[in-house]
Amino acid sequence: MVKIGVLVSGRGTNLQAIIDSISEGKLEAEITLVISDQEEAPALERCRKAGVPWEVVRRKDHSSKEDFENAIAEKLEGSGCSLVVLAGFMRLLGSGFLSRFPDRVINIHPSLIPAFQGLKAQKRAVEFGARVSGCTVHLVDESVDGGPVVVQAVVPLLPEDDEESLSRKILEYEHRILPQTIQWFSEGRIEKRGRIVVVREAIYGTLPVNPALEKF
Ligand code: GAR
Repeated sequence: MVKIGVLVSGRGTNLQAIIDSISEGKLEAEITLVISDQEEAPALERCRKAGVPWEVVRRKDHSSKEDFENAIAEKLEGSGCSLVVLAGFMRLLGSGFLSRFPDRVINIHPSLIPAFQGLKAQKRAVEFGARVSGCTVHLVDESVDGGPVVVQAVVPLLPEDDEESLSRKILEYEHRILPQTIQWFSEGRIEKRGRIVVVREAIYGTLPVNPALEKF
C-alpha cells in the first residue's frame, strides 16, 4: 500500500476522488498528509470531513521559494509518504524539492501535454479550435507540465463546447486517471525506461484512455 502526500491549492475535487477511491476499497493507498499553500482552499474542508491530516504552508511565511519548498518537503517526509501527488497545486516546484522525491512526484493536468501546458488549458484548447483535448498524469520535472507521461485520456472537443463544458468533461477523466495512476504505483508497476514511463502489464492502445483503466 503506497503512502501518499497530496499538495493542493483550491477546490480539491481530485483530492476527493482519491479519498473516495480509497474508501470504496478500489485504491490501495493511505494519505499521510495534505498540504495546501492557500488557507482558504475548499480542499481543506474535504480533509476535515474525511478525517485526513492536513496543514497549510504559505509562501508568504517563508523568505525564499527554497525555504518554502523545504518546509513542504520536511512535512511530507515527516509524514512518511513515498509518493507526492499534485492535485491542483498551482505552483512550480524546484530541483531541490524534486531531488528529495526522485520520480515520485506526479501531477494531473487538464490537457494532452505537450499541448496547452500551463494555466487555462481548457480555455486555450477551445480558443485554438482543437478537435480533441483531455488530461494527463505525468511525472513532475522542472518543466511546466512537461514531465514524462504516465497516462492520458482523450476527450472530444465539439463545436458547441465552451471552456465550462470542456472542463467538466475533462474533469470526469481526471478523477479516474489520477487514482488509477496512484494504484499503479501502489502495485509497483510504474517503470521508467529513459524518459518513457511504462505501466507494466497494462493494456495499451485503448482510447479514450491509454493505457486502459482497470478499476477506475
Ligand atoms: C484540475 O483541473 C487540474 O487538472 C488543474 O487544476 C484543477 C484542480 O481542480 N491543474 C493544473 O492546471 C496544473 N497545471 P481540483 O482542485 O478540483 O482538483
